[in-house]
Amino acid sequence: MSSVMYMLLLCLSAVVISVVQGEDPYLYFTWNVTYGTISPLGVPQQGILINGQFPGPNINSTSNNNIVLNVFNNLDEPLLFTWSGVQQRKNSWQDGTLGTMCPIPPGQNYTYRFQVKDQIGSYFYYPITAMHRASGGFGGLRINSRLLIPVPYADPEDDYTVLIGDWYAKGHTALKKHLDSGRSMARPDGVIINGKSAKGDGKDEPLFTMKPGKTYKYRICNVGLKNSLNFRIQGPPNEAC
Ligand SMILES: *[C@@H]1O[C@H](CO)[C@@H](O)[C@H](O)[C@H]1NC(C)=O
Ligand SMILES: *[C@@H]1O[C@H](CO)[C@@H](O)[C@H](O)[C@H]1NC(C)=O
Ligand SMILES: *[C@@H]1O[C@H](CO)[C@@H](O)[C@H](O)[C@H]1NC(C)=O
Repeated sequence: MSSVMYMLLLCLSAVVISVVQGEDPYLYFTWNVTYGTISPLGVPQQGILINGQFPGPNINSTSNNNIVLNVFNNLDEPLLFTWSGVQQRKNSWQDGTLGTMCPIPPGQNYTYRFQVKDQIGSYFYYPITAMHRASGGFGGLRINSRLLIPVPYADPEDDYTVLIGDWYAKGHTALKKHLDSGRSMARPDGVIINGKSAKGDGKDEPLFTMKPGKTYKYRICNVGLKNSLNFRIQGPPNEAC
């Protein structure tokens, strides 16, 4: 074999190896889902927490990342998560829809595995059965653009997830009973942003801070149950002009 052929073969095998090793990165998460006390409207109520948090932790991913998420269900009811907006290409059984997958039985764990393939944007996850979402268990899911694929604007100064939704002080068990008895959903008791309201947890604390003249990205998801909501940023109250 000529040395040129030999070099070519070496190069080819190097290419094959780099293709095999070029698998998309994996992100691993472990979630412990429990009940806990939350007071989003100022009155303590039972909430659904993920790793002690309400709302749950943000999943920060980049296009094509593989997500491996081991969920321990420490509620006393079956629990099923859905990944709203994630296309689940070749993965439809991981979408967390009753019929394609079973809820996690109480006291057990299950590992969701999916790839956020060829998409970018701001999404959220939530527990889909038994009105659980009325008690929490939801959180943000970001899919950032890969560096190879630029977005048509400069990097913002900061990047905020805004989970806004109507809220019922009753919690999921009472709400479910209410609906099961044939009555319709009543008016919500308030509106919360990232688990907080002016009446409850986080009273008087700014949720987001911005510097004048900078650009910020807001990722807004409606995590409520009934109402559509308008989101507006009011001008600063004492703007010097
Ligand atoms: C989940 O949290 C509960 C309450 O804090 C704790 O008792 C349990 O051991 C935790 N389970 C896991 C798998 O971390
Ligand atoms: C999310 O991931 C991107 C890409 O890896 C990174 O640049 C960014 O700092 C992360 N953001 C947060 C809030 O962790
Ligand atoms: C449950 O968690 C254990 C410990 O992390 C893990 O080894 C196992 O694969 C998980 N089971 C399922 C069904 O995901």
